[in-house]
Amino acid sequence: MALALSYSPHSYLSPYKTGTQLKLDAGEDMFPLDESGMVIPSNTDYLDTWEAMEELVDCGLTKAIGISNFNHDQIERLLRKPNLKYKPVNHQIECHPYLTQEKLIPYCQSKGISVTAYRPFGAHTLNPGDPILLEDPKIKEIAARHKKSTAQGTGVGWRVQTTFSSQSLEIEDLNPGDPILLEDPKIKEIAARHKKSTAQVLIRFHIQRNVAVIPKSDKPHRLEENFKVFDFELTKEEMETLLGLNRNWRDCLMAQSVNHKDYPFKADY
Ligand SMILES: NC(=O)c1ccc[n+]([C@@H]2O[C@H](COP(=O)([O-])OP(=O)(O)OC[C@H]3O[C@@H](n4cnc5c(N)ncnc54)[C@H](OP(=O)(O)O)[C@@H]3O)[C@@H](O)[C@H]2O)c1
Repeated sequence: MALALSYSPHSYLSPYKTGTQLKLDAGEDMFPLDESGMVIPSNTDYLDTWEAMEELVDCGLTKAIGISNFNHDQIERLLRKPNLKYKPVNHQIECHPYLTQEKLIPYCQSKGISVTAYRPFGAHTLNPGDPILLEDPKIKEIAARHKKSTAQGTGVGWRVQTTFSSQSLEIEDLNPGDPILLEDPKIKEIAARHKKSTAQVLIRFHIQRNVAVIPKSDKPHRLEENFKVFDFELTKEEMETLLGLNRNWRDCLMAQSVNHKDYPFKADY
């Protein structure tokens, strides 16, 4: 927190959220991994982490605190915590038409917790001709040295960064059949009807569900494009079409954490 503030132009962060409820071994690595490439957990209870975060509010270091990647049972447990001082104001979850979160979103909203959708484009966003990180010859060479595969299909940078940061190489394979949101014909069709890009439709989808959305780009023209989503409206039928694309496909599976006691994605929602 102190580190985050030292880079921030503000005197407080608002809101501050738990990176995840998966508490990991303390140390220099953000994602400490064992030899088999699985995260090394700590025994910390996320309710204790929450208490520490409540102190940040009391100290005036943040105005509000939130959560990310919790399932509904974990939220219930947090809300029922004896002496809970502050409720989470926001829940940040992966959401897009292939993972519509039709139970978790209304549940959070019914509890007064707003929802933010991350990975709105499913991260499969390469244009034809773009370099494919996981096919980079240098990465392939390192992978071969470790007798590991480079993932097939389009590249997902954070996975590689995550694993490199811990000096091991456990790249999760993307399946060749993984869906590509930005190339979905039904979404393209809706976009064409509104003279908008598929990315803009994917952003608008959340706005009409009363969900905040945080697309990421390092390209000024795309940042600009991603803001131009307030001058059109998807029809009820179009929203239903988008919701109908759900296949409970998750890009951020956090597969290295599946054995963690608090791994959230085995629950129905
Ligand atoms: N809480 C969590 O566990 C969690 C997990 C993952 C991500 N997040 C957060 O979610 C936010 C979203 O980032 P994300 O990486 O998950 O996924 P994302 O926004 O779905 O995808 C980012 C990718 O989309 C591309 N892109 C952006 N605008 C585009 C457009 N208009 N047309 C085509 N491609 C476009 C970007 O490429 P260019 O840069 O080349 O434009 C980038 O490769 C970030 O703030 C991230 O920190 C949170």
